[in-house]
Amino acid sequence: MLIAQTSDLHIRPPGMLVGGVVDTAAALEACVAHLQALAHRPDLLLITGDLTQQGRPEEYAHLRRLLAPLDLPLLVCPGNHDDRAALRAGLDGLCPWPEPPGAGIPDGATLDLTFDLGPLRLIGLDSLRSGHSGGALSASQEAWLDSALSEAAFLDKPVVLFLHHPPFPMGIDHLDAARLDQSETLGLLLDRHPGRVVRLLCGHAHRHVTTVWHGVAVTVCPAPAFAFALDFAHKAPAAITLEPPALLLHRWDGRARLLVTHVSPIGAGERRSYGGERPTVGV
Ligand SMILES: [Fe+2]
Repeated sequence: MLIAQTSDLHIRPPGMLVGGVVDTAAALEACVAHLQALAHRPDLLLITGDLTQQGRPEEYAHLRRLLAPLDLPLLVCPGNHDDRAALRAGLDGLCPWPEPPGAGIPDGATLDLTFDLGPLRLIGLDSLRSGHSGGALSASQEAWLDSALSEAAFLDKPVVLFLHHPPFPMGIDHLDAARLDQSETLGLLLDRHPGRVVRLLCGHAHRHVTTVWHGVAVTVCPAPAFAFALDFAHKAPAAITLEPPALLLHRWDGRARLLVTHVSPIGAGERRSYGGERPTVGV
């Protein structure tokens, strides 16, 4: 099983740029072309939030047209730049949210989901907190996740959990101020299901970040269009940087029971072989 992940697309209506300078649509087109050119076709594309810049219907319509060439199953969770109703309407039929809206979800509104991909169970959490940059999960979402993890344990399914907001501090002040609120509740929940979640996947930071949190490996996905500057200074302001874009490829090795993540730079140079000459050192 091969899961491709991208995040934080920040799509605007056609012809409009983020901050007047970043062409997020062109960046997504390059990302889509990169996915189509991969030697191994992913089984699924996961997008961990901030699919659009302002959550407007015309932005989701634009996003849908940009993703159309892919023909891959799609899983998404909303980010703080998204709008639940517009997201659900804009990607209707593409992402397997429960029908009718809210079915099986205690809050009846959040876009949480479960999806089985071969032996893996993917669980998506909606951490959008309307009007806030930071995220949150309700008590009913946590209770739902608790039972979903118990069910996965009963079925002996490894779980990949995904949500937009990282639950841990990254050392970048403006991002840490807008991470998942009261994330320790989620951490304690993971503690109750040791070994069940093989990876926690996030977005929001526009950077590739990894850590281990409550015994679970956490991976934050870079964005195709722009990054937030890597600035560990106290109260450093948010600044956009144009760094080489990349996406992530998560490969499930069932025999080893391991999810292994590879960074795939977008627009990387052409593939070259060693030709007839073998290297004398290294690989
Ligand atoms: Fe974002």
